[in-house]
Amino acid sequence: MRRSRFVVSISFFVVLLSAATLDPTRLKAQNAGQTAASVPADAPYRDARLPAEKRVADLLSRMTVEEKAAMLSGSGWMESAPIERLGIPAIKMADGPMGVRSWAGSSAITSLPGAPPKVLTTSFPAGVAMAATWDTDLVQREGQTIAQEVKALGRDMILGPTVNINRVPLWGRNFEGYGEDPYLAARLGVAYIRGVQGEGVIPAIKHFDANNEEFERHRIDEQIDERTLHEIYLPAFKAAVREAGVWSVMSAYNKVNGVHCAESVPLLHDILQKEFGFKGFVVSDWGSTYSTAATVNAGMDLEMPGGPPMQAWLANPHMQSSGNGAGWLTADKVLAEVKAGHISEATLDDNVGRILRVIFVSGLFDHPHTGGGEVDTPAQRAVALQGATEGIVLLKNAASLLPLDAKKIHSIAVIGPNAAVARTGGGGSSLVRPMYAIAPLDGIRERAGNRIAVKFALGVGMDGEDPAVDTPAVRAGLLKEATDLAAHADVAVVVVGRYPKLEGEGFDVATMDLPAGQDELIQAVEQANPRTIVVLNTGDPVTMSKWIGQTPALLDMWYGGQEGGHALASILFGDANPSGKLPVSFPKEWEDSPAYGHYPGENLKVDYAEGIYVGYRYFDTKNVEPLFPFGFGLSYTKFEYSGLTVTPYISAGKAGLTGAVVSLKVRNAGSRAGAEVVELYVHDGHAKIDRPAHELKGFKRVELKPGESQTVAFTLGRGALSYWSPEKNAWTADPGTFEIQLGASSRDIRLRAPLVLTK
Ligand code: BGC
Repeated sequence: MRRSRFVVSISFFVVLLSAATLDPTRLKAQNAGQTAASVPADAPYRDARLPAEKRVADLLSRMTVEEKAAMLSGSGWMESAPIERLGIPAIKMADGPMGVRSWAGSSAITSLPGAPPKVLTTSFPAGVAMAATWDTDLVQREGQTIAQEVKALGRDMILGPTVNINRVPLWGRNFEGYGEDPYLAARLGVAYIRGVQGEGVIPAIKHFDANNEEFERHRIDEQIDERTLHEIYLPAFKAAVREAGVWSVMSAYNKVNGVHCAESVPLLHDILQKEFGFKGFVVSDWGSTYSTAATVNAGMDLEMPGGPPMQAWLANPHMQSSGNGAGWLTADKVLAEVKAGHISEATLDDNVGRILRVIFVSGLFDHPHTGGGEVDTPAQRAVALQGATEGIVLLKNAASLLPLDAKKIHSIAVIGPNAAVARTGGGGSSLVRPMYAIAPLDGIRERAGNRIAVKFALGVGMDGEDPAVDTPAVRAGLLKEATDLAAHADVAVVVVGRYPKLEGEGFDVATMDLPAGQDELIQAVEQANPRTIVVLNTGDPVTMSKWIGQTPALLDMWYGGQEGGHALASILFGDANPSGKLPVSFPKEWEDSPAYGHYPGENLKVDYAEGIYVGYRYFDTKNVEPLFPFGFGLSYTKFEYSGLTVTPYISAGKAGLTGAVVSLKVRNAGSRAGAEVVELYVHDGHAKIDRPAHELKGFKRVELKPGESQTVAFTLGRGALSYWSPEKNAWTADPGTFEIQLGASSRDIRLRAPLVLTK
């Protein structure tokens, strides 16, 4: 009840606002043909059988210029503007991408306990955890499931997926994205979008482009060369447009090469529209606009938020001081620019047409989402659990400490600031409020049953969370309690990491080190009990130099959503076999990171000086040893690779190589069922230009029973051999011999074979 009252009152406001700000006589000259007459019931645009283009053209021809202008900004916090006369619905949005967050207000508002409306939905693992699954089918099901929840709540659009590349380990929002590699991010982004769009829900792939740091996110100007943009920061968006036909793209807050993304002609017009062929609409990030004509002319179609919430927001001094831009595409401002001749009617038609096209192709016009389905069903929870489980990465397992044998163990000490609280995600607009969330301690207790004594000690408070546990005396007491508990247990599990106030949207992570006291806690517990398993509960790589040498077993559970604790327990006890692999390299320390020295920038400018050498492209080319390499993850079983064949093929009528089929055999040589992610990299040692040691161009996740083998095949096109040539301004592959590499991580290449490109 409360929810629907909120929505009704917002649209009422909008009608009043539009009436007050639009003078219908003002633009007669530009819009002589159209008057706000009633529309016949059989108007072609209402005919669901007609192609979307015809419907768009018909509808545009019936709209007044005032109505068109009114469509370029939202009517509320999460709603676009409806045009009731013509039956154009508002697009009702919900924040994402790790589930349906909310639509009531900014994260500051909706994160308050009990804030209205109380929307409790399934909390899925963070993007980085889903990326660690390397499971495109699962990510597609996640997108589908989230879309079903969106519809059940009567909404039409989910603000995700996030595909920004992990450039620096300190970006506050790394947890939302799919890691450091553009190919992996592209595959997962496409999968998520297909899942969402298959349900008739509109996704918004974000943030276009290169939102890679939160530091001064409204003002920072990123200097990125063309090749780096095309090879690293654009591929996920390109794939979303070309392969998934994505319906909406969200522009980023930051500037790229001197221009804010929301008004960037090179990004929005030249690349997104012309090069990629994008037919959907661009929605601004919330408060990322800075002009009227330049923004509209660049191809930014829908400014959010709008209406009264936007005005209230703009009046907030904090918004102003942080550089938030909003309120530029209000109907009166757009109309004034049309009148002044700074925005042509053809451009306005293009922008509005893009929004209308999506309203038609998504089915929103013909079948509005009225809500009413179920949310957080067992089936939906199962997807969250599978993601959390498959995403856990086993990083170390000396002397096969894991999996735990429930029959032999009598006591477990569960320790740490992230053990008894479910830290489901990082902070900000993506943080979902679920109906329940399983903390590691809950999951372990439930799985251990009555026979095993599971006891908890905090060990150290989470930095900044509770001042009461942050005095020297209390700290000493907590540490002693934890080490005593560990000393008397068969095994200790220490769950460390961050929480939304230390890792989240709007600020970067202060340091790669774990929060205060956590390294010391691990060291002390390891001393007390050598059978200690460390579990990381963060979205980023962290430094481990103080303890990793002594740690026998290490798991990364990332932020696992509401089912994180169950997933962890199933991996600890071997009910599930770990199959996650790192979607991001773990540097030994921040100083080893390729962007070190070029972050966060000076005088609000940041030079992407490392260029294309991001992540493993840097570590593997420049021979810098990471702590754990990209693509790495252990299993409780072993996989053998053999029989690599690379068969080039030439398609009819074309000279030279146009593709290759790569195949190999993978065998589970251990005694447990498990899944292996086979990674395919291409090495180019002969290009006319510097290229990384190798680049990921394929991966497959295969499930194998003990002793079972499977043939795994990949098809490579010319694109897999190509680089972006700044000289030709195009993707290019230089003839010569490439090496096809198959491996279990970027640094564990098991098989290699040549592939010759003749022309
Ligand atoms: C974030 C977006 C989010 C939007 C709406 C912005 O601050 O950058 O990712 O979707 O707010 O909450």
